[in-house]
Amino acid sequence: MAATGSEEQGGRAYYVTTPIYYVNDAPHLGHAYTTVAGDVLTRWHRQRGEKVWYLTGTDEHGQKIMRTAEANGVTPQEWADKLVDEAWRPLWDHLNIKNDDFIRTTEKRHTDRVQEFVQDLFDKDEIYKGGYEGPYCVGCEEYKLPGELLDGEGEFADLKICAIHKTPVEILKEENYFFKLSEYGPKLLAHYEANPGFIQPESARNEVVNFVKQGLQDLSISRSTFDWGVPVPWDEKHVIYVWIDALLNYATAVGYNENPAKFEETFPADVHLVGKDILRFHAIIWPAMLLAQGLPLPGKIAANGWLMVGGEKMSKSNLTGIKPQDLTSHFGVDAYRWYFLRAISFGQDGSFSWEDFSARYTSELANDYGNLASRVAAMVGKYYGGTLPETTSGGVAEQAVRDGLAKAVTEADRKIGEELDFQGGILAIFDFVKQVNGYITEQEPWKVAKDTSPDGQAALATILYTAAEALRGVAVLLNPVMPETSQKLWDSLGADAALGALADQRIQDAGTWGLLPAGTTVTKGAVLFPRLEEKPA
Ligand code: MSP
Repeated sequence: MAATGSEEQGGRAYYVTTPIYYVNDAPHLGHAYTTVAGDVLTRWHRQRGEKVWYLTGTDEHGQKIMRTAEANGVTPQEWADKLVDEAWRPLWDHLNIKNDDFIRTTEKRHTDRVQEFVQDLFDKDEIYKGGYEGPYCVGCEEYKLPGELLDGEGEFADLKICAIHKTPVEILKEENYFFKLSEYGPKLLAHYEANPGFIQPESARNEVVNFVKQGLQDLSISRSTFDWGVPVPWDEKHVIYVWIDALLNYATAVGYNENPAKFEETFPADVHLVGKDILRFHAIIWPAMLLAQGLPLPGKIAANGWLMVGGEKMSKSNLTGIKPQDLTSHFGVDAYRWYFLRAISFGQDGSFSWEDFSARYTSELANDYGNLASRVAAMVGKYYGGTLPETTSGGVAEQAVRDGLAKAVTEADRKIGEELDFQGGILAIFDFVKQVNGYITEQEPWKVAKDTSPDGQAALATILYTAAEALRGVAVLLNPVMPETSQKLWDSLGADAALGALADQRIQDAGTWGLLPAGTTVTKGAVLFPRLEEKPA
């Protein structure tokens, strides 16, 4: 199990990966969902002061990409280059994804290492030559078992179709190389048993355990009927099966067989984030490959549910035409990053609706959070000319706010940082935002301001200081989720001059009361969540 990162920069990195995405098409909301989740998770750990490595990339070999390129009249490499440069990298930039590396499986740093890994397995007698005939889904890039198929209807009547892609499978007959996966069942089961957190959530873990208990078949790891892949080093008529090639990105990108120091401090991953459609590849095949090489296993395979449209997994064929950019241009990038993690319990399926997004934006972001920030800044401006006043220690009401912040920090840190319960962590922070709103409503500073006695003035100062200091904590806690908004708030509190850069504030300290000193310059600043325009037609 991988160690978590540590303060000292020489230590191990907290290493998180996304799936590497197929470049047959541009990214959609579903891909962005996993990538944003990983970004929030890794930003959270950076905010704790840990050394972090966040990896994403693209899966560029295999029949699916080859056919798409052919259909578009270009080579697979040209197609992949175009999609990566024009669609994938720009979307991640746009969504403020702070990945440390971007691996492409057509890069030499990857293909050379893949060949070495597979050659090594061959030399160790983990791979043998055999024949196979069976149904193959090009969408999944996977041989299917007969029991996993559905009967086609309509245009596909009398055909067997893939349960995920709803398209006919093809019967393939090939001479292939096989990895002795069947030998790893007992070792895998022992690992699942000894490491209950290895597969998350529980439902995913149960699915994998049941599948492995039924007995594993050896895995075909080469293809010989097409050539868009990494050649099998000892038999170049074959290319390495795209999933073996793809899974290895998690090792090749961090220096496997190339940079021992980097590999040592990074590998294995603490968390592989995957959609539940690709769980078995990550929870069965990948660990078996590592066991065969004597390499350590990852800490956790976390499966996220599907974003659904009309009861089906959102995919390029049923997208209803909504791109991530259509949402960010309306709601903004930060609200987009927040919404899916807030609205859907990680691990469960969830449906997206424009109406739900609008309603939550208005009530939770604009009314609860945005208004709190602007009210506090406006009152410090009005009553103190924008200089944060000195506070007294306050009373019971102030103590409740302090306790509320400490609780929000502890809960959010556990839920987001450890349990990958993004929804629970975000809710803990927003419950605190509500609490601070309630505090202001009860304290009625606009009335207290009319009391010009020393006591009245001290009370007013305490209320506004308490609210501003609470917002200091909120800015830090929400920085991993909504970095642009947190920066605006940080600027508006004048916190930078007193406390330094927002990125340098530690989660562990966020609940320490009284960090923001009196005397900072509080300004009204930019509106955090502007009123939404009409929904575009
Ligand atoms: N190339 C493989 C992964 C190889 S990893 C070694 C692949 N690529 S993919 O482009 O199909 O992307 C799959 C991933 O995108 C899913 O596992 C999931 O993380 C994300 N999603 C794609 N559609 C999704 C939804 N509708 N909902 C949620 N996530 C989805 O499989």
